[in-house]
Amino acid sequence: MTKPIRRLELAGADVKVFSKPEGACEAAAGKIISSIPICAMVRGQAVLGLATGSTPEPVYAELVKACKSGLCSFEKVSTYNLDEYYPMGPLDPHSYRSYMHRHLFDHVDIAPNRGHVLDGTVPEHFAAEHAALFDRWIAADGGLDVQLLGIGRNGHIGFNEPSDLAVDKALKLPTRLVELHPTTIADAVKDFGAEGLVPRHALTMGIAPILGARSIVVLAFGEHKAEAVARSLRGPVTAEVPGSLLQTVPGKVTWLIDRDAASGLL
Ligand code: GLP
Repeated sequence: MTKPIRRLELAGADVKVFSKPEGACEAAAGKIISSIPICAMVRGQAVLGLATGSTPEPVYAELVKACKSGLCSFEKVSTYNLDEYYPMGPLDPHSYRSYMHRHLFDHVDIAPNRGHVLDGTVPEHFAAEHAALFDRWIAADGGLDVQLLGIGRNGHIGFNEPSDLAVDKALKLPTRLVELHPTTIADAVKDFGAEGLVPRHALTMGIAPILGARSIVVLAFGEHKAEAVARSLRGPVTAEVPGSLLQTVPGKVTWLIDRDAASGLL
């Protein structure tokens, strides 16, 4: 296992800086792999909150490798994904549902009714009900054991975009339908091919269920993430930078980042 080159304690979080993203992804996968049998033994299953985007792809590759070599099993695992574009069909290659099948679900022994992704096909007038149900499913499964998170360039977590909400209100945000921020739309052009093809809305797990996880692992790589990382860890707690809301749950957040993403901290 690759060792971090720096370790900092910042805003109640354990921050590990790796020379390359690979080391951080190995560490994230290691944390998930070691938590599964413990949670399964204690509570009958492990409940994982999962992220999409390019950042966690190597984590899923590590998990698949570990499952194929018998080091890990998803038989007693339930997963809840952070978000899904809206509207979005599950078979659309841009959907996070298809991303999850491509990178994880199709390659491990997870039961089909245990890999939960918000449904981008629900009628708009039932989106709030669907989102509320998602939070109830998480609660009924005993809450999230480990939440894997990425961070947007604008500091978003999941698709909880920057807002002018008071902090106490932001901390209570449930899973819901949201409008995407212009930076998020601009960043998604690389996946969709043109700005006009990027959905304007998404369903996202709320700040409240994310922060309710027993353990949170945040990954961030590259210089383009440095500002979001620095504002999340060194800046004030504000809904303008959703990543900074992680400061309100000291002791349970681990940042696994590379040297470039850490450049605003060191
Ligand atoms: C997307 C996802 C987030 C993710 C972020 C960063 O908008 N909804 O959950 O963390 O973008 O993506 P990437 O890892 O590709 O930089």
